[in-house]
Amino acid sequence: MTDQSPVAKATPTLPDAQTVTSVTHYTDRLFAFRCTRPQSLRFRSGEFVMIGLIGDNGKPLLRAYSIASPSWDEELEFYSIKVPDGPLTSRLQHIQPGEQIILRPKPVGTLVIDALLPGKRLWMLATGTGIAPFASLLRDPETWEKFEQVIVMHTCREADELTYGRDLIEALPDDPLIGELVAGKLHYYPTTTREKSAHMGRITDNIASGQVFSDLGIAPMDPANDRAMVCGSLAFNLDIKAVLETAGLSEGANSAPAEYVVEKAFVD
Ligand code: A2P
Repeated sequence: MTDQSPVAKATPTLPDAQTVTSVTHYTDRLFAFRCTRPQSLRFRSGEFVMIGLIGDNGKPLLRAYSIASPSWDEELEFYSIKVPDGPLTSRLQHIQPGEQIILRPKPVGTLVIDALLPGKRLWMLATGTGIAPFASLLRDPETWEKFEQVIVMHTCREADELTYGRDLIEALPDDPLIGELVAGKLHYYPTTTREKSAHMGRITDNIASGQVFSDLGIAPMDPANDRAMVCGSLAFNLDIKAVLETAGLSEGANSAPAEYVVEKAFVD
């Protein structure tokens, strides 16, 4: 056979290529983008995938990113830090609509409702870009069907860095799919640590001191009713685990659901 189709040679595409559809810059260190979703990709809200670009050596340069869009969304959304000399994000931050990224369609992760035992209140505890998996879970009806209350604590150094999460949370009541489910169930507790704002301090300190319970007028954590999902820096994840264990919660996994689960937020 000598049939060589000119079409097959025409446009070189990346392996597992998806096309970027929109990009939003929040600060000089944070941006979000949306891209097409492979038709075959099924995932559970809260999971992550490997995404990236072709590196200087011609090989894929991939990093783990939580999917920030819910599992029912036609597109995929990602929320990212920009590290000036980061191998991937120094380039990814310049991505434009119409350009391609690589997306390996193998979602995994422990920040899923299935890895938690049934409970009444769900705590979403995030620092920095760790809000991304919660952006997915907060827009998933299952979260609101399974829990009576959802408490989102998000801490960043400065107020601007809270914008992505705040915009998303403020839009929830108007969401046609989950707006009614959310009514009266959501507590949002954003804090900053290095710039003055309405509520300040680290998540660990605000739980350990009881400040968050008194500010929100809610009961302290107890292992019978409370479940938690954690996503932040390594140092945060370690410190918050100690706080949750002190409250009597124990760590769960897909294979052994328990009272809390942890995932490291993306860092370049
Ligand atoms: P802080 O400003 O007191 O360090 P980063 O940008 O370094 O990832 O931090 C994001 C947020 O997480 C900051 O508000 C930071 O507070 C907070 N943070 C960092 N490390 C910890 C930790 N070990 N425990 C609780 N919060 C932390």
